[in-house]
This record gives sequence, C-alpha cells and structure tokens, in this order.
Amino acid sequence: MKYIQLGKTDLVVSRICFGCWQLSPRFWGNISLDDWNAAMKKAMDAGINFIDTAQAYGEGYAERVLGDFLEKNRCRKNLIIATKFYWNIEDPSNRYPDTTFHYIIKECEASLKRLKTDWIDLYQIHAWDPLTNPEEVAAALLSLKKQGKIRWIGVSNMNVHQIDMYLRYFDIDCLQPLYNILDRDAEKELFPFCLEKKIGVITYSSLARGILTGKYSGNEKFDDSRANHPRFTGENFRKITSAVNTVMKPVAEKLGITVAELAVRWILTHPAVTSAIVGVKKVEHIETVLRAPDDVLDRKLWHKIADEMSIACN
Ligand SMILES: NC(=O)c1ccc[n+]([C@@H]2O[C@H](COP(=O)([O-])OP(=O)(O)OC[C@H]3O[C@@H](n4cnc5c(N)ncnc54)[C@H](OP(=O)(O)O)[C@@H]3O)[C@@H](O)[C@H]2O)c1
Repeated sequence: MKYIQLGKTDLVVSRICFGCWQLSPRFWGNISLDDWNAAMKKAMDAGINFIDTAQAYGEGYAERVLGDFLEKNRCRKNLIIATKFYWNIEDPSNRYPDTTFHYIIKECEASLKRLKTDWIDLYQIHAWDPLTNPEEVAAALLSLKKQGKIRWIGVSNMNVHQIDMYLRYFDIDCLQPLYNILDRDAEKELFPFCLEKKIGVITYSSLARGILTGKYSGNEKFDDSRANHPRFTGENFRKITSAVNTVMKPVAEKLGITVAELAVRWILTHPAVTSAIVGVKKVEHIETVLRAPDDVLDRKLWHKIADEMSIACN
C-alpha cells in the first residue's frame, strides 16, 4: 500500500480509503456483516488505514458496525476515521439538513458513542446547508476541536464559493467530491482550488457505483438504489458497460491489473487527489483493487482513456 499526507494535516493516509456507505440498507440492501467484517480485516492486513463513513449511512447503522469492529479488534489507534454530519436523522423516514450549533454538538457525541471512540480524525460536513450561517457551524466545530473530539475538518459536495465561505471562519483540511472517469466536473474549479490551498482531496464513487469495474454485461437488473439509476438501466447501461469493456478492459489487461484497479489508478494519477474511496461489501472488492496505487498512468494514456470513454458513452 502507498501512503500520503492528507493536505496540511498530520494524517498519513493510505491511497485507498475504505468506504462504508454500503452499510446503508436503504441504498444497498442488507449486506452480510460476516463478509463486511472479513473485508475490513483484509483491508487492514493490506495496509489500508483510512475509513470513510457518515452518521447518515443507515441512520447510524454504519457507524455502529464500524464501532463494533474497532472494539472487537482493538484497532482504533491503527486507523484514521473520517465521518460526516449534516442530516438530522432523528426521524429516519424524514431526514433534513441540520448543521445548527446544537445539532452538530449532539450528533458528534452520538457518532463518538456509535464509533466507540473518543475522537474523530476527520469530521466532514456532508453538504452545504442553505439555512445555517457558516459562523454558527464554525462555533460548533471549533468547540469540538478545542475539546479534542474532532481533529481535522473536511467538506463534501460543495463548490468553491461555498468552501470559501467556511474558510473565513475555520480551516478546511479535506474535500470529498464525486470524481471518476465518467464524472470529471471537479477538475474544472475544485481541484485547482484545492491544489492552491493545499486541501486534501478524497474522491467518492471512484468506481461510479461499480460500473467501472468491468463486471457487468449491460443486461443485469439491480435490486438496490441502482434499479432506477439512469446509468444502470436501459440503453445507457448497455452503452457504458460496452465502453468499459472495449476501452478500459484491454488497457487493464495490458497493464496486468483489474479494471477496478485501472479506474482507481486513473483517479490517483491526478495530482490533486490524495486518496480514492472505494465502496466495499466483501473481501473480493478489496483484493481486486489493491494494486491501483502501485503506479501512476502515463499522461498520454490517462487522456486517451478519458477521451475514448467520453466518446463511447455519449
Ligand atoms: N460524500 C458523499 O456524498 C458520498 C456519496 C457517495 C459515496 N460516498 C463514499 O464513497 C464510497 C464509495 O462510493 P460509492 O459507494 O458510490 O461506490 P463505488 O466505490 O463507486 O462503487 C461501489 C460498488 O462497486 C462494486 N465494487 C466495489 N469494489 C469492487 C471491486 N474491486 N470489483 C468489483 N466490484 C466492486 C460494488 O458493487 P456491487 O454491489 O455490484 O458488488 C460496490 O457496492 C462510499 O462507500 C462512501 O464512503 C460519499
């Protein structure tokens, strides 16, 4: 495994980050906890030390499962835990954005309890809350930081202007944007901004929810949140899977890596990116992505893959 400093923090993180959204039954169905625990063990054995979760994933469930793992395996100190706040999850069927002072303090305490830890390494604002003044968010986060309950602060799903608003009141150490071969908006403004400010970047949906792994033929039917997702249905699904199979598969074969490793290597080649978060359900998901950080892609090949995928998918 390869490691890298996260932005200006003192955290040295693995270039693959273990994503825990898959522990959200509403989006991913009920996955096997035996498989998930085995995958966490495999990830740790392989040197992955960076875990991304959120209080919203399964309305606390994902944090509880991770907390049980940390306690059972006595490994809290070996891992860098990133979690998020933003949603008010008091009524799970009717959640809404809530980054008020009172709710941030309450949810941070709840996250610490669920994770069975005294501190959160990276506390991320899941998205921009239009109804709360950044000054109020700052008061809560700076108080938590002063108490040692959170170490560093990150943001997700925000544009440059929104990040700038928060930067007036507190340091932002990490951005978590959507980024993969098919979703490249972050390259335009966010990545240059993060490079300039030395803000770490951890990408989500690095495999575009699995479609960039080359394991689909285009005829599969899904019984999770992908069932109605435009990329996983109809002609669009067939077009994208065919592009992955004709553009990415031969390159991966030539490099002697899996298609998932090629997709992640493509992300990690961008100089703004610190780590790629990969959503994991089972050991195979870890085993077949481990070689991604071993090397970077030649710049000509990096552009060629992206251009050919864009042409084939449009
Ligand atoms: N900040 C945010 O708003 C936000 C949003 C989304 C995600 N995230 C974070 O980013 C993480 C990853 O993003 P994501 O969940 O959208 O998905 P992703 O990593 O793009 O794809 C995950 C899916 O890909 C398949 N997969 C994973 N590894 C594989 C491998 N090596 N070989 C073959 N298939 C593999 C699995 O699909 P199957 O189910 O078909 O096996 C898995 O459920 C999440 O867990 C979460 O931590 C954050």
